[in-house]
Order: sequence, then structure tokens, then C-alpha cells
Amino acid sequence: MVGAGTMGSGIAHLAALSGARTLLYDLDSAALASALAAISETLGPAAATLVEGCDRLEGLEGCDLVIEAIPESLGAKQETFSRLGAIVDERCVLATNTSSLSVTAIAAGTPNPNRVVGMHFFNPAPVMKLIEIVAGQASDERSISVAIATAQAMGKQIVTAEDRPGFLVNRCMRPFGLEALRMLGEQIATPEQIDRICRLGGGFRMGPFELMDLVGLDVGFDIARSLFEQSFGEPRWRPSPITAQLIAAGRTGQKTGRGFYDYTAGRHRPEDGDEPSCPSGDGLIVVTGERSIAHDLKVAALAAGWEVEPFVDPDGPLPWLILDCGSLQDDPPLQGGPQAILCAEGSLAALDPEGSAVGFHLLGPIEESRAVELTRSPTTSEIAVRRAVEFFSSLGKRPEWVADAPGLVLGRIVCQLVNEAAFALAEGVGTATDIDLAMVAGLNYPLGPLEWGDTIGLDHVLDVLDGLADEYREDRYRAAPLLRKLVWEGRLGKGCGAGFFLYPDETDI
Ligand SMILES: NC(=O)c1ccc[n+]([C@@H]2O[C@H](COP(=O)([O-])OP(=O)(O)OC[C@H]3O[C@@H](n4cnc5c(N)ncnc54)[C@H](O)[C@@H]3O)[C@@H](O)[C@H]2O)c1
Repeated sequence: MVGAGTMGSGIAHLAALSGARTLLYDLDSAALASALAAISETLGPAAATLVEGCDRLEGLEGCDLVIEAIPESLGAKQETFSRLGAIVDERCVLATNTSSLSVTAIAAGTPNPNRVVGMHFFNPAPVMKLIEIVAGQASDERSISVAIATAQAMGKQIVTAEDRPGFLVNRCMRPFGLEALRMLGEQIATPEQIDRICRLGGGFRMGPFELMDLVGLDVGFDIARSLFEQSFGEPRWRPSPITAQLIAAGRTGQKTGRGFYDYTAGRHRPEDGDEPSCPSGDGLIVVTGERSIAHDLKVAALAAGWEVEPFVDPDGPLPWLILDCGSLQDDPPLQGGPQAILCAEGSLAALDPEGSAVGFHLLGPIEESRAVELTRSPTTSEIAVRRAVEFFSSLGKRPEWVADAPGLVLGRIVCQLVNEAAFALAEGVGTATDIDLAMVAGLNYPLGPLEWGDTIGLDHVLDVLDGLADEYREDRYRAAPLLRKLVWEGRLGKGCGAGFFLYPDETDI
């Protein structure tokens, strides 16, 4: 191991546990001593003898594999690799733990770039289940196999990724933070709200702002900047000026006591508050549209005791509430009751100009979701507001009021996560299975983004993206051509048995 900091000491610990004789080198002897002390404390003296400190890079001479975990600087890494090239045997594999630099560029300085690979561990290395194995342009098969065998011996789950900016995980997670920052900048919702919506509505362990504070805004910003620069300005990856300003103010997160939240009085965790009480439904709910969400809402409403119809019968009783989840052209007009409109293909302003409806959005799987987002316009009627709140509370969903935009908060974040994964898949950065595994095992996501898209319905995902593209007129929201193609082919996701994946056991809804 070269570098005995946060990652290097964790990786040395893992290597020792896997039974390998492990040498640990750091430029800074104090860092080396404290890493060795920490390893011996966790592993106990017997296992810890497997890790030996080294005071010179030359000490790594006899190694079969060297993993580098020095700071994220291309120049420093190139220099280390070029020096190592002259020290180790020619069969020794050289791996870098870089998060955001190009493996190919790091290898460029070495005489044998074919033996350089990426082994991207996650923090804390002994705990996190995933390793991304990254092949540079010149990496040969033997070096990749050595990296894979080592990761297996460490008991990790492995995904292989192409050497593109951010590999799989750091790339596919871009929208979680960046879309949240965009919405903060547009005053769609506060950090507390966005975090709560992601936790309660999306099942994420942490919201994007809590996560940025934990990782460190400066660390995250460097990665954001590096990916944006390597892509020559991909608009989806543009770093946020909000982060830049907080960093300038020294507010880099938990480690400095302040980031988006204030930690000076201890750890900040906003209260989620109580779940709504759930009186059972009494009245007729009309749920229109053919999306998966319409189906799920009908099932949930019936279970909560409501009467449910798919359209308004002009001769029947007046609906208590109409949930317009995308009505079709031939449907009878939606009149005769207060309305809530699903803000998928547009904002409430676009879907009900000067109308009295309230806007809502939520995502499948709805049985897991504990929140619904609501939005209103200056002309939204009070009765629509009251009834929407009461209806969603009867389903056990906590209402969260946000400003108006296509997909509202969670829809916008998750549909962009699906979109980014679809771009990565179409570009061959990883397989569909590896992309989903990477996000679940690497980041504890509740579902892989591709399977999540299939659960929401790819028509719904595409509608939100096209709605955003229409209203913002920005390339940032262009849908991945692969996503559009799947929708054209009728592969809308789980509901129809095929989307990014095949679901032979699912019946058509
Ligand atoms: N921290 C994370 O969450 C995380 C996760 C995945 C990958 N990474 C990547 O791992 C690498 C290391 O990150 P970290 O968080 O462990 O950094 P760190 O600052 O905790 O540790 C870096 C260590 O490298 C030593 N060092 C500096 N220059 C050196 C040199 N030329 N030779 C030998 N040792 C040298 C430093 O003294 C320090 O102890 C970076 O490339 C980073 O992008 C970090």
C-alpha cells in the first residue's frame, strides 16, 4: 500500500484480513505510525503482524500488487507510478484507488501502462461491500484478473467499469447532489425538506445535503469539478456555485462544524416528525391514466377504504377527489370534483394554467413511500388542497409542500438518476446489472437506478425529463436516447414485463 491515510489504512487492514503479507508505506512517518497503531488495535496483534510498515518506496520491491491511495492529484500519482515502475518486478500489478482521475492518464507516465488498473474502494474500506475494477486503455487481462482475485479474496462484491469520468458509482450518483443543489438554487424546497423527501419518499438512508456535509463539500466539489472538466462541460455534471460559495466561507460540512447544516451544537439530524394519522377513506376517488402510478394509487386507495373509478361518470355520484395521472385524449372531461394533477410531464402551471387543481407527485414503489409532495398555484382551490392532504394522509403519506416544477423534488432527482444510468449503460461504462449492483452495494441505494426506472415506469421517467427539458430549455434535462427508445418499443418497465431488464413473472397491468 502506498499512502496510509483514510483509505490506505483501511485497504491495508482488508489485505491483512484476506491473509496477504502487506507492506504499508507513507511519505509521512507520523501518518504511517498512526495507521499501523489503528490496524493493530482493530485486528489484534497476531493479524496485525501481517502489516509491516515501510519507510521508503523502495521497500515495496518484492510486491506482486501495489495499491496506491495518496491524495487525488494526477501529478503526484503519475510520479509515484513512474517511480514504482523502476522499483518493482515487471509482473507486479499497479492499482490506483483514484475516485475521479483517469486510470489511463495515471498509467501514462509508466513504462508498462498495461499493468496499471483501477481498484476503487469505498470509505470505510473494511465496511463497504463494493470495489469497482477499472481497466485503463492499456490495462491487460492479467492485471485485471489479479485485481479481481484480490478483491474477491477481500470478500468484496465486484463491478467492472470502463475508464470514463467517475467510473460507475461517482458518475451515476451525480444527480443526487447536483439536482438537489439546482432545486435549492431555484427555491423549490429547503435542504431540510429535500433531505426529508429523499428519506421518507425515496427510502434513501440520507438526503443529499446531509450526505454532502458528511463527505465534505470540498471533497465532493473537487470530484464534481474533475468530472465536469474531463467531460469538457457536460451540462448534467456542472458543479454548483452554491457549493463553491459555502467552501469559500469555510463551511465544508461536519468536519468544520458547518456546511448546509450547523453542527456546532452536536450532530444535526432534522426531525422527521410524526406520520399522518390514517382515517379510512369515505367517498369516491377517480384515478385516471394508465401509468404504473395510477394503478398503484388505485390499489392503495381501495385498500384505504375509498371507492375507486377510472373516469368521471356524468350520470354517477360526484367524485370526492379526482387524481389526474395523465388522462387520455378520448377520456370524458374531468369535471365535477376537486382535482389533483400528477406533475410528471409538466409543472402544475403548465398542466392546469389558471386552474383550481392542486399538483402532486410521488414515485413507486408506493407501498415503500412515506411522503407525497404537493404544490399549489395562486388559483388552486382550498377544497382541492384539503382533500389532497386528507386523501394522501389516508394512505399514510406525509404531505410536503414544495414549489412547482415537473416531477417536483423526488421525481426530478430519481428521474435524473435513471437518466444518468441510462446514458452510462448506452455508453458501455458498465452492464445494467453492474450499474444497479454498484449503486446498491456501493452507496446503499434502496434500488438500483435502472430497476427503479422499471418500477416507476419508463414512460413516467421520460415524461418528467421531457417536461423539465420543455420548461427549462436546457441540455441538462435531455433524455438518454436509450430511454426514449425503450419507451418507443413499449418496454415501459416491470408493469409490462420488460424495461431495462426483463421481468418474465410480472403480469401486464
Ligand atoms: N476518502 C474517501 O472517501 C475516498 C474514497 C474512495 C477513494 N478515495 C481516493 O483514495 C485516495 C486517498 O484518499 P484518502 O482519503 O485516503 O486521503 P488521505 O489524505 O487520508 O491519505 C493520503 C495519505 O497519502 C500520504 N501521501 C501523500 N503523498 C504521498 C506520496 N507521494 N507517497 C506516499 N504517501 C503519500 C499522506 O501522507 C496521507 O497519509 C485518493 O485518490 C482519493 O480520491 C478516497
